[in-house]
Amino acid sequence: MLASEATPLVKVGGLGDVVGALPVGMRALGHDVRVALPHYNFVSESPSVKSILSVKWGRSQVESSCTETLVQGTPYLLIGGRPVASSGSVYGENAAIDALKFVFFSLATLHHVRAMGFQPDVVHVHDAHPGAALRWLQENANEDPFWHATGRVLTIHNLVYQYNEAADALALGGINPAVDDIVPTLARSGLLALAIRASDRINAVSPTYAKEILTPEHGAGLHGLLSTRSGSLSGILNGVHYDEWDPAKDVMLAKNYTMDTLSDREDNKYALQQEVGLRIGQGPLLGVVSRLDHQKGLDLLVQVLPALLRRSESALVLLGSGDGSIQAELQQLAVEFPDRVALSFRFDERLARRIYAGADMLLVPSRYEPCGLVQMIALRYGAVPLVRATGGLRDTVKDYDVDPAAGNGFVFNAFNPEALSSALERALHRFEDQSLWRGLQLRGMELEFSWTAAGRAYEALYMQAMIDRSGQDAG
Ligand code: GLC
Repeated sequence: MLASEATPLVKVGGLGDVVGALPVGMRALGHDVRVALPHYNFVSESPSVKSILSVKWGRSQVESSCTETLVQGTPYLLIGGRPVASSGSVYGENAAIDALKFVFFSLATLHHVRAMGFQPDVVHVHDAHPGAALRWLQENANEDPFWHATGRVLTIHNLVYQYNEAADALALGGINPAVDDIVPTLARSGLLALAIRASDRINAVSPTYAKEILTPEHGAGLHGLLSTRSGSLSGILNGVHYDEWDPAKDVMLAKNYTMDTLSDREDNKYALQQEVGLRIGQGPLLGVVSRLDHQKGLDLLVQVLPALLRRSESALVLLGSGDGSIQAELQQLAVEFPDRVALSFRFDERLARRIYAGADMLLVPSRYEPCGLVQMIALRYGAVPLVRATGGLRDTVKDYDVDPAAGNGFVFNAFNPEALSSALERALHRFEDQSLWRGLQLRGMELEFSWTAAGRAYEALYMQAMIDRSGQDAG
């Protein structure tokens, strides 16, 4: 597996969580999964050097090292070299410069595993960043028995980040851009488009997102290209690591609880209110744990909250970092409602856990959401999710009012303030009936979105990719 991030070594967002967890699930099924990451200069492991070689990079040869470290039983290959080391962050401001690092990493990884004699059945690429690896296989595997039968799998976590500015990086790596009309002109040197073209199997991180990306609304310009691959495209819902996300054992909580001791959860609510400086009380506490990013739709929340706070006893606790303009708008709210709006603009896993355990509801009003992990964690912790019906949110949260027998949260469809506002109204109304609410919480806590199920689905996908490959020429 190749990726730009994997927890616990490198984490920026949900991609890192998934790439960190999936290998553990796959190894449990008996597969020898190894993960390759760029050896960013801030990754301070003390691993052992496994291979050093030079990679043809434009007219020069650039040295690359591969060091190995074991993380929860999974070997991680850290791939170094000048284009990788010169970057101080995982993702920078300039996609063309990031592409240099990611293309170099992708090619060097393939050379290293070969030098080490590790011949994978499948090369599995996560998102655009390592996409050049699949393109390289497409262009070279025909002449090379080592790679001839290697299946090629691409997982799309977020279609929006395509790295279409990779022309220079591809040229340095000796990789051709796409020339066929199926690939939109803008994306012909794009790492994601090339990977889509070169893969045997493609999956998106939820069944709904796999369908959405075929539409102009969510296709980010690649829906046409993806439609040509629709027979090879499926959706696999991400899992949650239930050992790590367990309110019965979570050491960060004020008080642990289970489905049988749900009333103990209340202590977490008061502890949270106290910690973030909210008025202490039983009114509904709404939580948000999110990157502050256009995708996450928090601008809607900013529009509906003032009226909601004026007419109800509710309060908001929000944790997240990112976009400065969203922060500024939220800040206005905190000024108007100092003891009912608490904002923390940072990344803080401890506080995140205390929000899942202490908030009554968790809000996820995303514009689009390929899978989303927070709503699954919220369900586990008994925070009732209120989400927009998109991507993985739609696949995991069922609206209580639509289906009282199976509902586990609240869902709104249209991306506008009215739709969010009316879902919030419905949720607050239900919250008044505490025994109904406890039923909703218990229903969520009982669900399990496990990595075992996801791992089995990936296993089937890998098999399919290998069958596809054996059925055709490598090109
Ligand atoms: C991206 C998506 C998110 C998904 C995650 C892991 O961060 O935005 O929805 O859960 O990848 O697949």
